[in-house]
Amino acid sequence: MLNGFSEDFSFETNILEAGAYFNAPTTHPEALPIHMATAHNVEDLDDLQKRYDEHGFCYNRNRNPNRSALNDMMTYIEGGEDSLACSSGMAAISTAVIANTKAGDHILSDKTLYGESLEVFSKILSKYGVEYTFVDFTDFEQVKANIRPNTVLLYTETVGNPLITVPDLRKIADFAHSHNAILIVDNTFMTGALAHPLALGADVVVNSLTKFANGHSDAVCGAITSSKEMIEKCHAVQVLLGTQADPFSSWLVCRGLRTLDLRVKKQAANAAALAAALEKNPYVKKVYHPSLASHPAHELAKSQFGEYFGGMLSLELEDNREKMNKFMRALHLCHYAMTLGGYRTTMAYPPMSSHSDMTKEERMAIGISDGLLRISCGIENAEDLVKDFEQALEVAYKD
Ligand SMILES: Cc1ncc(COP(=O)(O)O)c(C=O)c1O
Repeated sequence: MLNGFSEDFSFETNILEAGAYFNAPTTHPEALPIHMATAHNVEDLDDLQKRYDEHGFCYNRNRNPNRSALNDMMTYIEGGEDSLACSSGMAAISTAVIANTKAGDHILSDKTLYGESLEVFSKILSKYGVEYTFVDFTDFEQVKANIRPNTVLLYTETVGNPLITVPDLRKIADFAHSHNAILIVDNTFMTGALAHPLALGADVVVNSLTKFANGHSDAVCGAITSSKEMIEKCHAVQVLLGTQADPFSSWLVCRGLRTLDLRVKKQAANAAALAAALEKNPYVKKVYHPSLASHPAHELAKSQFGEYFGGMLSLELEDNREKMNKFMRALHLCHYAMTLGGYRTTMAYPPMSSHSDMTKEERMAIGISDGLLRISCGIENAEDLVKDFEQALEVAYKD
């Protein structure tokens, strides 16, 4: 294989060959390079066979070094056997669910999920003959009552969106297994630094790495973590659907994950401090955060998570658009953003974002009022954050 230019060829040919490969060793750089190449060359057919046999890098959609690095990080963080980096959290969810269902199967799912996860079941899989039922996973009787002989998969989130609900994962995993079904858990809100669904019995963990995992609001990415056998099954589906993460996003997320432990613990501590202060505030009707003794799953959350309860909380204000606008405009440290988990504190309004496809009646039925704001805490100083929320509430609601 030609490495560099050759006197035998012309300028227009040599310009394609010069600088294509390094001559000096490039192993063990202090930071992982970004491998943008769509394909890796082989010397001959024997070398090609060897590459296949050792699951080496051939074509980007099948395998890529940055994706492999991210897979290794996620496998460690979530405590699985292997992982599959995907182009988004939704890509991870749809790949994992499609790999594990066929026409005639039934999915039993939590009803307070991220809105678009619900729609994968109700708008896509239902078209291909997969049945689904949505129930409240915090009410185990509902889960028990809705299992069917053809239920193959139970689906929930470690911490539910947007009411910050906490299902009993061990109980649900044991129940799923006793019916030969698997449990898939979305760990986006907690991450593997704060919660371990696989250790609690889940079979598959999915993550939107776009959120706390990357933490810098500059990459869209996702991952599936599970057993080697399960990841092989999901990989086969990913190669056909093309749901793989791109190299640059994978590289960004690997970089973000280096500081995961520092960030998410501070974010969780800030959320607990803000929740405690807002619960005492006369202008706030209700605060949802598992650190609060008033949270219905406080004790369960303590046993399931330990010291940290995650960086997400929700608060219910008076259902008054004008006052809510005034409150939002008066905040300095909390910005409206259609995402969460970044290093700055952000807010979202579920009735106009994750749950905008539902009618007001449907939203109210699952406890999402038009006064609900969801807050994702950043890594600011906790006192600054509390002070800022208190002054903004005062500006908006004092009369
Ligand atoms: C809990 C949860 N899961 C999955 C997703 C989807 O992630 P992505 O936007 O990376 O596809 C989101 C997005 O907000 C989410 O909040």
